[in-house]
Amino acid sequence: MIFVTGGAGFIGSNFVLHRLARFDEPIVVIDKLTYAGNRENLASAQHDPRLIFSHTDICDGAAIAALFAAHRPRAIVHFAAESHVDRSILGPGEFIRTNVNGSFELLEAARKYWQELAAEARAGFRFLHVSTDEVYGSLGPDDAPFSETTAYAPNSPYSASKAASDHLVRAYHHTYGLPVLTTNCSNNYGPFQFPEKLIPLILQNALDGKPLPIYGDGLNVRDWLFVLDHCRAIERVLETGRPGEVYNVGGKNEIRNIDVVTVLCAILDELRPRAEGRYADLITYVKDRPGHDRRYAIDPSKIERELDWRPEETFETGIRATVAWYLDNRGWVDRVRDGSYRDWIDRQYGERT
Ligand code: NAD
Ligand code: TYD
Repeated sequence: MIFVTGGAGFIGSNFVLHRLARFDEPIVVIDKLTYAGNRENLASAQHDPRLIFSHTDICDGAAIAALFAAHRPRAIVHFAAESHVDRSILGPGEFIRTNVNGSFELLEAARKYWQELAAEARAGFRFLHVSTDEVYGSLGPDDAPFSETTAYAPNSPYSASKAASDHLVRAYHHTYGLPVLTTNCSNNYGPFQFPEKLIPLILQNALDGKPLPIYGDGLNVRDWLFVLDHCRAIERVLETGRPGEVYNVGGKNEIRNIDVVTVLCAILDELRPRAEGRYADLITYVKDRPGHDRRYAIDPSKIERELDWRPEETFETGIRATVAWYLDNRGWVDRVRDGSYRDWIDRQYGERT
């Protein structure tokens, strides 16, 4: 059995569903269900006896220790985090609490559990920490992409809190020998992404006929990866990565924000034409994000070379699948936006219990 923290969030839920479809191994999802956690994301597996859900805050060390004692996992995949840069600018406290203190509590619980294991189980145990390329800071137009040896230079409270957790993970390997693995991935997109991030936000605003906000000059560059390609990379690292190593994950898809939005508008023009005109007419430049990183780009050659991972989706195929998902799942988006996703479990099970 494995633990997945943050398994009701965007990438975590994609990972859980992807894994349950391919392996028999049970999964305990550990999630606090913040605004970004949505049990409806796991609805397709709600009757699967291999999926156990624990409504737990990773900062609660005693509760995490009890989960280790009860379920005795062979690995933990740690997604749980506060993840939105703009929220970290408005209120950094929760980012420090969950991303730094929470990761620390998880590492402590894992270390104590791991140290008591018999030799074979000790050797096989893994703590996989899911991190971001944002810890490396911002690139100029001609800089080489981030590699695993790029110096850390986080610029936002979000990336600083993730950098701190990466350092703790590294220290637990060097000091205690805990078999950790770290992945630093570029921007993800795909189903179940909370509509505060660029791609789902633009899609929803466009369908509502609202302005499409572009920060600054729209020329900031992100390196986009389809979420299931990230999940496949994590799986590869979990099963064959070398303990103590860091793997950068990215799809070599550097795209300027304005171009991402233009592509989304063009796909919508084709699939859901607007009577009032073209979707791109809604593009509106707004005040820039403070400290806005200019460019992120990942050099994935280590994970390609050592673990034989490569993305299966191009940006063209992945973004079409994503737009199709959001068009087919307006109900999911509506429930997220009106807050009723929080009552999903009550509505699902209320009358049965
Ligand atoms: P998300 O915000 O969609 O989901 C986060 C999940 O963590 C939610 O289910 C939330 O309820 C849970 N959570 C938050 N605080 C918690 C706490 N204290 N205890 C237990 N659960 C808690 O995030 P995401 O986009 O799925 O990102 C997942 C991980 O991947 C994060 O660690 C993030 O830094 C990393 N990452 C994200 C991206 C991206 O583009 N989204 C890219 C690279 C890395
Ligand atoms: P986001 O999805 O928040 O991811 P991150 O900040 O972690 O890269 O934003 C992606 C890019 O899009 C980033 O450069 C900020 C920009 N952006 C906008 O221009 N408008 C928006 O409304 C949002 C949410 C983001």
